[in-house]
Parts: sequence; C-alpha cells; structure tokens
Amino acid sequence: MRLVILDKYDEASEWAGKYVRNRILEFNPGPEKYFTLGLPTGSTPMGMYKTLIKFVTSGELSFKYVKTFNMDEYVGLPRNHPESYHSFMWNNFFKHIDIVPENANLLDGNAPDLDLECKNFEQKILDAGGIELFIGGIGPDGHIAFNEPGSSLVSRTRVKTLAQDTIIANSRFFGGDISKVPTMALTVGVGTVMDAREVMIIITGAHKSFALYKAIEEGISHMWTVSAFQQHPRTIFVCDEDATLELRVKTVKYFKGLMYVHNKLVEDGKDYQEVKRQKKK
Ligand code: PGA
Repeated sequence: MRLVILDKYDEASEWAGKYVRNRILEFNPGPEKYFTLGLPTGSTPMGMYKTLIKFVTSGELSFKYVKTFNMDEYVGLPRNHPESYHSFMWNNFFKHIDIVPENANLLDGNAPDLDLECKNFEQKILDAGGIELFIGGIGPDGHIAFNEPGSSLVSRTRVKTLAQDTIIANSRFFGGDISKVPTMALTVGVGTVMDAREVMIIITGAHKSFALYKAIEEGISHMWTVSAFQQHPRTIFVCDEDATLELRVKTVKYFKGLMYVHNKLVEDGKDYQEVKRQKKK
C-alpha cells in the first residue's frame, strides 16, 4: 500500500490528477488497446477532474482511447436530474474532455430489470479487459462506492439500500431535504473494485480521518468496507493532512518520508516511450 500525504485538498487533487495522467500516458492507449478507468462521483474527486480537464485542454492528455466505468448511480432518479451521477459526470468531466460518449459507461438506475443491468455492467467491464485503474472516494463510515457497512467484501455490482448516514450526507445535494434523496442505488461491489489492477482512493478532510484510520491501521472488516483494500496488491491512498488526524504519528512519519518516491510518480513531461525503450533493454 502507498499512502500519499499532501498538505491540503488542492494539492491532493493535483497529485491524483497527475498520477492518472501519467498512468494513461505510460500505458500509451490506442485503437487496439484502450485504457480502462473506474470513476467516482462526489465532492472529493472534483479537484482531480479539474486537473485532468486542464491536461486535456492543454493537449498533454487525451481520453480518445480511454473507456470509463462509473462506480454507482441512484435508482429511480431521472437520468437528466441535476443530481443523477450521469449528470454529475457529464457536467463536471465528460463534456470537457475528448472521450467518445459510448466509451463512458454508467449504470442505468432506471433500467426495467435492475439485476440484469448490474450483471451486464460486470460483463461490459470484463469485455473491456478489466479495469486498469479504479479511482474511489469514501464516506465517513468507510463505504467505498455504495458498499455500506456490512456489505460483503466479495460483492459484485448490485442494487443496494443506502444507509441512513449516507442519505443524510447526500441530502446536501438535494436542498437539505432527506425525503428527496433516493434510498436505493446501483453500485459496483467491493469485489468488482478489488479486481482492478490498481486502486486509488482519495480521502480528504478531518471528517474522514477515522475512516482512514480504520482503512489502514486496523484489520479488514466488512463494517469498514474500504479496509478490504489492505488485501489488494496495488492500492494508493491519496489524502490531505486533515485526513491523517487519527493515524499514529509513526504511520504518518513513515509515509511522509516516502514522499520523494511518490512525487517521482507524478513528474511532468516524462518521455514514456523512452521509459519503455529503456525498460526493454
Ligand atoms: P464525498 O462522498 O466525496 O462527497 O465526500 C464520498 C462518498 O460518500 O463516497
């Protein structure tokens, strides 16, 4: 596991955006080889999306050969509702980049057969060759996607009923009215995210600090579903100082001491084809 600690939200977002940029550039996607990216919604990834839009606008990065799969979607909210995850993704990210619309995959929370919709989503991920990099955020209760406390750690994409805490937290997007928040969602499972070749989880703010502590300093538990990623061979937690408040000083010092290594991963302007040629030698 890598734990990347930046000062503030903005720096964490920039680090995450640069990491995604470098992973895509290094992969060197093309018509025969798409890069597959798992994506979250929420306030946490907004800064990362802005960073990525900047790279696309400046011509450094293209999403032409990238396929995306979103983690979740509310059930029963019209697709064009401003708070649907479909609207969120198009308004905040997809419409500003050069992704081919049919390569942006989102679950349909209004599908006539929701179970079938979930099954088909898993199949689409498989058909795309699996996910190269899955990016997630978490809730203060440690949920990843809508895998609420108590979710199976080997779960797949399915219909979930939201926990009351999540409904209350998300009511801020519905004018503070909890009766307007959908109570069900379609979500990838913990197992679906675990199958990705790499996972990056962004955690910022003091209100997530207990969840980060549970995620990395205590054992794996289905009551803190993000803790499952202790078992993943390639997980990166990207956080700000506030999110580390509940961690041991020893943990924070160790990972901060590794920042010179982590920062090499996000350097600008690497010649990736040159890096590849060097690796082959
Ligand atoms: P947030 O939500 O990024 O808006 O805090 C994350 C989540 O609940 O998964």
